[in-house]
Parts: sequence; structure tokens; C-alpha cells
Amino acid sequence: MSGKPSNKASPRLAIAVLASGRGSNLQALIDACAAPDFPARIVLVLSNVPGAQALTRAEQAGIATAVINHKTLGSREAFDAAMRERLEASGAELVCLAGFMRILTPGFVAAFHDRLINIHPSLLPAFPGLHTHEREIAAGVRFAGCTVHYVRPEVDVGPIITQAAVPIHVGDTAETLAARVTETEHRIYPQAVRWIAEDRVRVEGAKVVIDGATSAPAIAINPEPTPRGSAD
Ligand code: GRF
Repeated sequence: MSGKPSNKASPRLAIAVLASGRGSNLQALIDACAAPDFPARIVLVLSNVPGAQALTRAEQAGIATAVINHKTLGSREAFDAAMRERLEASGAELVCLAGFMRILTPGFVAAFHDRLINIHPSLLPAFPGLHTHEREIAAGVRFAGCTVHYVRPEVDVGPIITQAAVPIHVGDTAETLAARVTETEHRIYPQAVRWIAEDRVRVEGAKVVIDGATSAPAIAINPEPTPRGSAD
């Protein structure tokens, strides 16, 4: 990643994670960072929700936490300025949104340009926004998935780093589909952070290039082609 300080105390990339809720993606990052060869470390977990489960996960892992409650700050700008100050003080070089349920101001996004990433539970640019799984099932699409991308001022928009596709099964509910997608989120988010920390990720216009990355080996078809009369 460009702009890395050269006199760092640790060669591992310092990351901050912003989370508002359950924090299962945060947990995946905590677990990944626990491996001695993982090239990143979490220096701060910041939440806008006092008591969020994500904060408990961080505390249990001995990671510094901060709460900036948007309800006690007058405006979106004041909230973002407070977050920015706390993030800059933490020394974070990369900021990872992991279920952070606040829309960020363009000023905040600009301050962390190409140093701010997000995970979204759909194959962007399809199904941005909330309630992705319900909407995918209602639309009858055959694949769902998740995306890790750089953040731009528009919600769920930005150069895509990595995606995982997940088949939608007959009879899936939003809950069963979410469970399958979440499992893949926990795989691709640490992988994306690893690539960035290894300095292998370049943003070129609207696209991301990852040095040495190879494409998925197989084509997936859903439903699988089967002879008439065979079981689903
Ligand atoms: C995930 O589905 C993520 O894609 C979305 O918010 C959810 C957060 O879940 N941005 P968790 O808090 O990480 O468990």
C-alpha cells in the first residue's frame, strides 16, 4: 500500500475496524491476525453503538476499543470528524468497515481515500443497500455472494477487490442464505486485508489489480444441469 510510514514499530499493517453490531467479520479478522504470519494487526475497534457485540469481541482479544455515539454528536460532520481524529490517533493505515451502519460523509471518505474498505453481502454492483438476501430471493437470481471493495462516497460503490459467489438453494430463506454468505465473508475479508498488507493491491481507475492473484478455476452453474426427473 502506498503511503506506508517507513519508521513503523511493526512491519505488520495497522488496521482499524469499524463495526456497529454482531462483529462476526471483525472476529474473522481478529482470528486471522492471531496467526503469526498474518501481515496485519488490529490497533483499534471503533463502534458508534455502545454495548455492540463487536466491542466485546475486541475486548476479549485485548484490542483497544472506542465508542463514538452518533446520537450524542450534533451532525454527521461532527461524528465523522470525531471518528477521524480517533482513527488518526490510533495510527491505523487501513480502515475496515465491518457491518458499520452509518453513511460516511464525502470528507471522511476522501480523508481515507484507498485506505478504507468495506464488505457487502452481495455480488456488487447488484443489490447494494439493505436486505440483500430477501431481495435476491425475491428476484429469483441463482447466485448470491459477497464483495470486498474500496469505499467511495456513494453507498456500496467502489473498486472491487474480491468477491465470492454462493448458490441460492431451492427453499432458501433470507436466514439460510445469509448464513451461507456470511461464512464466505469470513474467508474473503481476511484475504483482502492480507493482499493489501502484502502491498499487492493497486487501484487503477474503477478497477483493482492484485499482483499474482489467479482466477477461480471452475464455472459454477445453478441449478446444476440434470436429466429430467432427477432430484433437485
Ligand atoms: C455483514 O453481512 C456485512 O457484509 C455487512 O454487515 C454484516 C455485518 O455482520 N456489511 P457482522 O457484524 O460482521 O457479523
